[in-house]
Amino acid sequence: MHMRTKKWARPELAACPWFTAKGVSRRNAWRQRFAEPDRPLHVEMGCGKGVSSAQMVAEHPEINYVLADLSADVLGDARRNVVRTCGEQVANVQILQTDICRIEEQFGEEDRAERIYIHFCNPWTEHPKHAKRRLTHPRQLMQYRGFLAEGGEIWFKTDDDTLFEDSLVYFDLCGFETVYLTHDLHRAGFTPNYVSEHEEKYMRLGVPIKMAVFRKLEGDPGFDPTRYRLTPGVRESALKRLDRETGLPTGSGGPAEQEKCRNDE
Ligand SMILES: C[S@@+](CC[C@H](N)C(=O)[O-])C[C@H]1O[C@@H](n2cnc3c(N)ncnc32)[C@H](O)[C@@H]1O
Repeated sequence: MHMRTKKWARPELAACPWFTAKGVSRRNAWRQRFAEPDRPLHVEMGCGKGVSSAQMVAEHPEINYVLADLSADVLGDARRNVVRTCGEQVANVQILQTDICRIEEQFGEEDRAERIYIHFCNPWTEHPKHAKRRLTHPRQLMQYRGFLAEGGEIWFKTDDDTLFEDSLVYFDLCGFETVYLTHDLHRAGFTPNYVSEHEEKYMRLGVPIKMAVFRKLEGDPGFDPTRYRLTPGVRESALKRLDRETGLPTGSGGPAEQEKCRNDE
């Protein structure tokens, strides 16, 4: 989707004390950017205009947030949305302009994020070669592992069936367990759920929203993402095995009634 350049976005971001495009200098020191560094740290990857993020930040002053995106134009909107809901003096959010493909240069082990959100990332389904650009690709997940706290979680939402199923395999390979999964988030009534700009759009079109929560398992999965290609055979056998092991429905046609939270078992 092409977005018009917003002339006001860059100057407003530059003047904002809680914005940075220099994440590298904050590596291992994100917590110190907040008034209360010991509070949980949640990072949103590809926050876009921050419609849902602003709501979340406002309702959770006890959590510190980093909202990350590549585009200064959308981050300009994200900043305005946060100001609208929390005011200019908001203390629990930082906005980061960055290419998430290089996120390990900007976050380190000592940042210990408790949670990462990935909502409606670009599905990159047109060509298998493009899959490595997905924000859930193993190249990314192995980077996120490096700064996620032990037991830290990744919350993932998408409208796209192929991206969702492929991502289940990616998370499994990269040492994450699935703790929640639904093929129809709004029917499942999962809370808390903050509806993002893209979520709103797909809801209006009647597309069911897929969501899963993955928890980082202890230990090194010993997986090298640089050589990885998700071939159809590997994909099908991994999905079948995940179905068997977790009891969580992984097929795109899986009935919504089958949503399951392992914690409830
Ligand atoms: C489809 S939008 C979703 C925005 C928002 N999360 C939502 O649900 O409405 C995807 C967002 O991811 C951002 N994005 C895509 N690739 C990125 C990358 N490599 N680094 C940083 N942001 C990226 C885009 O700029 C865009 O704002």
